[in-house]
Amino acid sequence: MIKKCLFPAAGYGTRFLPATKAMPKEMLPILTKPLIQYGVEEAMDAGCDVMSIITGRGKRAITDHFDISYELEHQIQGSSKEKMLADIRHIIDQCTFTYTRQNEMKGLGDAIFKGKVLVGEENPFAVILADDLCVNPDGDGILTQMVKLYEKYKCCIVACMEVPKEEVHKYGVIEGNRIEEGVYMVSNMVEKPDNDKAPSNLAVIGRYVLTPDIFDVIQNTKPGKNGELQITDSLCSQAKKGMVIAYKFKGRRFDCGSVDGFVEATNYFYDLEKKKAE
Ligand code: G1P
Repeated sequence: MIKKCLFPAAGYGTRFLPATKAMPKEMLPILTKPLIQYGVEEAMDAGCDVMSIITGRGKRAITDHFDISYELEHQIQGSSKEKMLADIRHIIDQCTFTYTRQNEMKGLGDAIFKGKVLVGEENPFAVILADDLCVNPDGDGILTQMVKLYEKYKCCIVACMEVPKEEVHKYGVIEGNRIEEGVYMVSNMVEKPDNDKAPSNLAVIGRYVLTPDIFDVIQNTKPGKNGELQITDSLCSQAKKGMVIAYKFKGRRFDCGSVDGFVEATNYFYDLEKKKAE
């Protein structure tokens, strides 16, 4: 049912300058794999086979990454390096990639709205923010967990996690009633509230399942925090109608949009590889 996944990837990645001056932040590697490839693999595991990427100026490397590189493949054919391209080749063979540009940085709500032309208005779709790198070593990936939950509730779902009170100002924060273990019916959402004004410490992280009626809602949403169109505000309108679920996912999330989170993720995956090799 959920076959399409949207990847807003037009942001500048200023926290990683100068590395991101000429290179998209989504292409920063954790070990040998770019961040966005982790996201695409998570979406594939959840059953998606159309990856719709919202790009911008200077993001061509993403398009090239998800395309065949004949020269390179020819060059390393038959060598021990060939297997290093096996995963990405598999992705390219299994998925369709579609792209559009967000020409102006007008917020995540605007980026998602730009994706309307790619994901259409017939079916629910997923959204992954690639700099939130999510893993669940004990079972289903985070998006798979959410897709399964969608089958039960058939409404918008946001992934959330508890964060320390002094960090809530970095996130969209939800207020809601627990309806089952780890699942909340959302009644209110606030984008990056002051720490002392947040309705809870349940922070939204970069995984969403959205129903296509969200596009009309975005169109009627006014710019919010930082003068940008915030998906949190559009989802808040839906939440007031009882149409948004927050899900405390099983697994771990690395904030790879920050240097600390990026290094943490690198160490995590490095240790994992080491253990595999033992
Ligand atoms: C975005 C969303 C925010 C969410 C966060 C998760 O913010 O606007 O609601 O909590 O992603 O990473 P950003 O980090 O892009 O500023």
